[in-house]
Amino acid sequence: MRYIDFRSDTVTKPTPEMRKAMYEAEVGDDVLGDDPTVRRLESLASEIFKKEAALFFPSGSMANAAAVKVHTNEGDEIIVEERSHIYLMEMGHLSFISRVIPRPIPSSRGNLDIEFMEKTIRKVRRYYIPKTSLVCLENTHNYWGGSIVDIKNLKEVYDLAKNYGLKVHIDGARIFNASVATGIPVYEYAKYADSVMFSLSKGLCAPVGSMLVGDKDFIDEARRIRKLLGGGMRQVGVLAAAGIVALTKMVDRLKEDHQKAKMLAGGLKNIGYDIDPDDFPTNIIILKVKDAALFVEKLKENGILALPISPNEVRFVTHNDISFEDIERCLNVCDSLIASL
Ligand SMILES: Cc1ncc(COP(=O)(O)O)c(C=O)c1O
Repeated sequence: MRYIDFRSDTVTKPTPEMRKAMYEAEVGDDVLGDDPTVRRLESLASEIFKKEAALFFPSGSMANAAAVKVHTNEGDEIIVEERSHIYLMEMGHLSFISRVIPRPIPSSRGNLDIEFMEKTIRKVRRYYIPKTSLVCLENTHNYWGGSIVDIKNLKEVYDLAKNYGLKVHIDGARIFNASVATGIPVYEYAKYADSVMFSLSKGLCAPVGSMLVGDKDFIDEARRIRKLLGGGMRQVGVLAAAGIVALTKMVDRLKEDHQKAKMLAGGLKNIGYDIDPDDFPTNIIILKVKDAALFVEKLKENGILALPISPNEVRFVTHNDISFEDIERCLNVCDSLIASL
């Protein structure tokens, strides 16, 4: 049976153009700084984000881990959103690698409450009180259903952070989804951050890779940490070549993924599921059901893959390898299941 795979946009296969670019890529030893294709990808990323420098990573988790390590000292406290990927889904690298204390705070679908954030920042300086040194945001926000952090909220967070001398890092694994949905260029979002991570391997369809952008000193240090974490790669231009196609050819296409998500959410609501399509502005939908594990099992029996993310929430992610006809098929299956679940 051919499965329609809604588990994540990470399941996307590289496009034929990517495979050709990978085959033809000019390569060199990147640890020695010799890979011209990686250099090209990194310059492209720093131009697009209007940051001084960029660095290619094997994964978003490693790029996030390196960013936190560079921005903090052991024992610092860092503010994270309570449902964020960096806090919940990255193997606890905050404490395992950077040895910082995460201070999770609530949000309105990823938008931080500025008063709450201000209260959270440690103001009293005594030797036994940890120092708050970093705030991390996620845009778009995965576990809030691809929600967008408003640029106004980002600016407020950034201004407040700067008042107290904190760094700001954006986990922008899907920041191009935010940009395509709002029309705001990614460099505008990046203005309000010291560093941004974004993924090439999700909706942009590259097989592997994420980028970290920031100022030159930050990226020089992140390069050292990347090597320490085992992320120094050799003739990695074969992967960077796909990343260049991702950045130059695949961004505008994300709007189709958003249309597919709208069609899915709207269809589910019409069938009678408890869902508000307006909650899902990009390519991720989170559906509340009675029993997520059972629902996902029934979907699978009918050729649909989705991910249970809590006992009563199922996540659907739209992407390049799902067509509008696939959405219709999924809706037909969900229609047939609603009575029995
Ligand atoms: C919001 C967010 N940040 C970071 C990551 C980590 O990326 P990777 O899987 O490349 O480590 C993911 C992966 O799904 C993600 O959704």
